[in-house]
Amino acid sequence: MRLIILGAPGAGKGTQAAILSEKLNIPHISTGDIFRNSIRMGTELGKEAKEYIDKGLLVPDELTIQIVKERLNKDDCRKGFILDGFPRTIPQAEYLEKALEEMGVSLDVVLNIHVPDEEIVKRLSGRRVCPNCGASYHVLYNPPEVEGICDSCSHKVVQREDDKEETVKNRLKTYHDQTEPLIDFYRNKGKLVTVVGQEKLEDTTSNVLKALGVS
Ligand code: AP5
Ligand code: MG
Repeated sequence: MRLIILGAPGAGKGTQAAILSEKLNIPHISTGDIFRNSIRMGTELGKEAKEYIDKGLLVPDELTIQIVKERLNKDDCRKGFILDGFPRTIPQAEYLEKALEEMGVSLDVVLNIHVPDEEIVKRLSGRRVCPNCGASYHVLYNPPEVEGICDSCSHKVVQREDDKEETVKNRLKTYHDQTEPLIDFYRNKGKLVTVVGQEKLEDTTSNVLKALGVS
């Protein structure tokens, strides 16, 4: 399956992508995760991306498209992929169309996870992530088994730097201005499926699986 997951910051894209990636055995490609890894490793890409991410702005299209291009060319993407957080602008979506055409494949579906802004702020303030393996938790909605410790690798979980309230507000504004237009873009192409991101994670997951026809 070739799938895009669209949604506001904190809508649950990464959470659902991780579940689907395991079920469908296809790679989960998150541009946000790629940038955060580059920041941790101190690369040039990381340094440049950090300037934007810390302000809640989008990393410029050329840079983002370049990293997605490299990632989609890897062998493991031949059987399908889940794009989480890409595309985020119309030019990125147009690039993707061309790239898939060159690969001789097409997109199956665009899953749009809808969550109201008030809920987003609650979710992001309670999110904790594992800096070692990338697993994501929520202090109330999806806590690790032992408080503060990652279930998968036993590392201490932390708060993401861009989850501070002021930055979250900027990320939301950026989303409404630049990414939301993609909903109509993909609706017009007949690819869009929308699921409401429910209070309970399991309910969202079962709605997502139902909407995609995955058991
Ligand atoms: P990115 O890492 O993609 O961040 P984001 O879009 O802001 O989304 P998040 O990762 O914060 O949220 P999510 O939807 O994955 O939610 P999650 O599953 O964690 O991007 C970061 C930055 O990188 C951007 O701001 C930008 O600067 C840059 N960037 C990335 N891609 C780019 C691109 N293409 N172009 C330009 N710049 C780019 O869930 C959130 C929380 O809620 C968790 O705690 C989770 O446990 C909880 N939760 C999830 N689902 C539920 C539920 N159903 N009920 C209750 N709680 C839930
Ligand atoms: Mg994410």
